[in-house]
Amino acid sequence: DWTPGNVIAEQEAAIREQVGDAKVICGLSGGVDSSVAAALVQRAIGDQLTCVFVDHGLLRAGEAEQVETDFVAATGVTLKVVDAQQRFLDALAGVSDPETKRKIIGREFIRVFEDAAREVVADAGAHGEDVKFLVQGTLYPDVVESGGGEGAANIKSHHNVGGLPDDLQFELIEPLRALFKDEVRAVGLELGVPEAIVWRQPFPGPGLGIRIVGDVTAGRLETLRAADAIAREELTAAGLDREIWQCPVVLLADVRSVGVQGDGRTYGHPIVLRPVSSEDAMTADWTRLPYDVLSRISTRITNEVAEVNRVVLDVTSKPPGTIEWE
Ligand code: XMP
Repeated sequence: DWTPGNVIAEQEAAIREQVGDAKVICGLSGGVDSSVAAALVQRAIGDQLTCVFVDHGLLRAGEAEQVETDFVAATGVTLKVVDAQQRFLDALAGVSDPETKRKIIGREFIRVFEDAAREVVADAGAHGEDVKFLVQGTLYPDVVESGGGEGAANIKSHHNVGGLPDDLQFELIEPLRALFKDEVRAVGLELGVPEAIVWRQPFPGPGLGIRIVGDVTAGRLETLRAADAIAREELTAAGLDREIWQCPVVLLADVRSVGVQGDGRTYGHPIVLRPVSSEDAMTADWTRLPYDVLSRISTRITNEVAEVNRVVLDVTSKPPGTIEWE
């Protein structure tokens, strides 16, 4: 009988058997898969697990708090938070090419994660303990896609970067290997993972870094975060979350548009709404959102976000347009 409870019980036993007394590390991204995998391992072995969350400053409003506060409160995991926001801003300074941004974000992410993992290993070592395992939120479709081979200790992070260095070789724990996404969500809910995380729409690893057309600055991130929060609030209030696959909100930082706001002329930036419907992100269609919802989003963004004087709707399917703008 497939029930979330049975899956949890089975995996708990398997994880305990695999791990024994060793310690385990897990990187959290704020996404569904790593969160549910961590919650499951926590249920099985409690404080033998240490989670690491790299805050790169490219998440949306409230997402870091969701991990640091809500997820921790719900699951009781031991969490090591690394505030790397300034480091990522420095590394991204002056960079506007999308693939270069991705490379920089991926590279910095793995470096910061490695440093944090080394600290966890050293800390355990000081107590005579051994960190032997790394949790990965690999799902069944990932297994199939990669040929179904047993995973070496490669970190297939949300940035799809390469392997870990020799001094950080871990055996993998992949408790979601047999599950599809909807099953992972059911297991997550059963484990008490907050709904905001369980139902989070897809969000790219490089985060808001690839939703600013132009180079990434703290001010631009703040502008985009504010606009994105409004769009998400209104879509949620309209009950549209489950109909939309995802809705990138993009700041055209290198484009300026003229507006008239308050007492005079402004020269600000456009925000693009990119709501899409999709099954698997390989192809997508633009979502026909109700005009009144679009109108509320537009009015609120232009009223509440100082730098933005124009909201435009992307009506391109994929192909030819990708879902993200970068
Ligand atoms: P595109 O823009 O290629 O996006 O149509 C397809 C799906 O992938 C996500 N995406 C990424 N995810 N790292 C990620 O982890 C990335 O660099 C990246 N680029 C795009 C995108 O949000 C969509 O769900």
